[in-house]
Amino acid sequence: MRIVSGIQPTGQLHLGNYLGAIRNWVRMQDEAAAAGGECLFFLADLHAISMPHVPAELTASTRAMTAALVACGIDPDCSTLFNQARVPAHAELQWLLNGTARMGWLNRMTQWKDKAGKNRESASAALFTYPVLQAADVLLYQATHVPVGEDQKQHLELARDIAQKFNNDFASEDRPVFTLPEPIIPPGAARIMSLRDGSAKMSKSDPSDMSRINLTDDADTMMQKVKKARTDPEVLPSEAAGLEGRAEARNLVGIYATLADTSVDAVLGQFAGQGFGAFKPALGELLVEKLAPITARFVALKDDQAALDAILDKGAAKARALAKPTLDTTYQALGLCR
Ligand code: TYM
Repeated sequence: MRIVSGIQPTGQLHLGNYLGAIRNWVRMQDEAAAAGGECLFFLADLHAISMPHVPAELTASTRAMTAALVACGIDPDCSTLFNQARVPAHAELQWLLNGTARMGWLNRMTQWKDKAGKNRESASAALFTYPVLQAADVLLYQATHVPVGEDQKQHLELARDIAQKFNNDFASEDRPVFTLPEPIIPPGAARIMSLRDGSAKMSKSDPSDMSRINLTDDADTMMQKVKKARTDPEVLPSEAAGLEGRAEARNLVGIYATLADTSVDAVLGQFAGQGFGAFKPALGELLVEKLAPITARFVALKDDQAALDAILDKGAAKARALAKPTLDTTYQALGLCR
């Protein structure tokens, strides 16, 4: 069991990241420790340069996101925690895989279409080849499991396609170069939606801060954001089927169920017949109860630059050693002499 996943250090860690991915990272870290498996978690700072960015902000948010992950429960003594830029093998393997990835595959990526929009001609080449770097991130370590939210599923399918084609083209059947990674998507929280629009995912890049709960928001801000979340005038139904066509209501009930580690039907059993005037304060309180300890740990860690850099240095040294055998085999398989 080798678990690998990453997060871009742009903007703030929000509830979508936490429920969709990071909470699963922490659970899998604990399971892997018990089963003798290994976990690698990284800040995807190389991915972050695919969009316009301010260099000093990237440095600061790489450290801040490190503090946030540790605050959420990633233990740097147990998991390998690092940023891509400290491990050049990620960029090297991306180049080696660029020979295998097909333009047609990359053209079909919905993230590319969404982020490039109508302005493809002026989008960066990095935005187009972004999924090849993501494939390199996981294939480099022979990842078996990759915990992510649903929006990353397509990128992981591409990573599998690249691995498969590379193995077919350059390896013998009994000695494949790459392991095919399995995405692990949490069933209840695969896609946490914006608080302002139930059809858009909660995202760091949404210009409205009211659309997301940041893990650094204080209790009052969280309560305010939940109270102002868009809803409808109907009362809550008694079963999940009654949320059909009510995207905002479904999102809030889903968040409650995930935070409380229970089912949507169980939450509706408790709140059926009540309006959002009753439900929203309960959700706000649950959010504060679950997130306040994380926020407190984050605040205690975030300004200790030296400690955060030491975590990343130590993780990167481990990651470089783990990456080396696969990188060497890939060069060799391609007939590249070094
Ligand atoms: P990123 O930084 O956008 O998000 C980090 C993780 O959070 C999940 N996520 C969500 N889950 C549910 N609901 C949401 N609203 C929501 N928003 C974000 C994402 O699915 C992700 O798991 N390309 C990746 C980073 C990456 C990566 C990798 C991930 C780079 N290399 C290799 C896995 C393996 C990204 O931009 O995630």
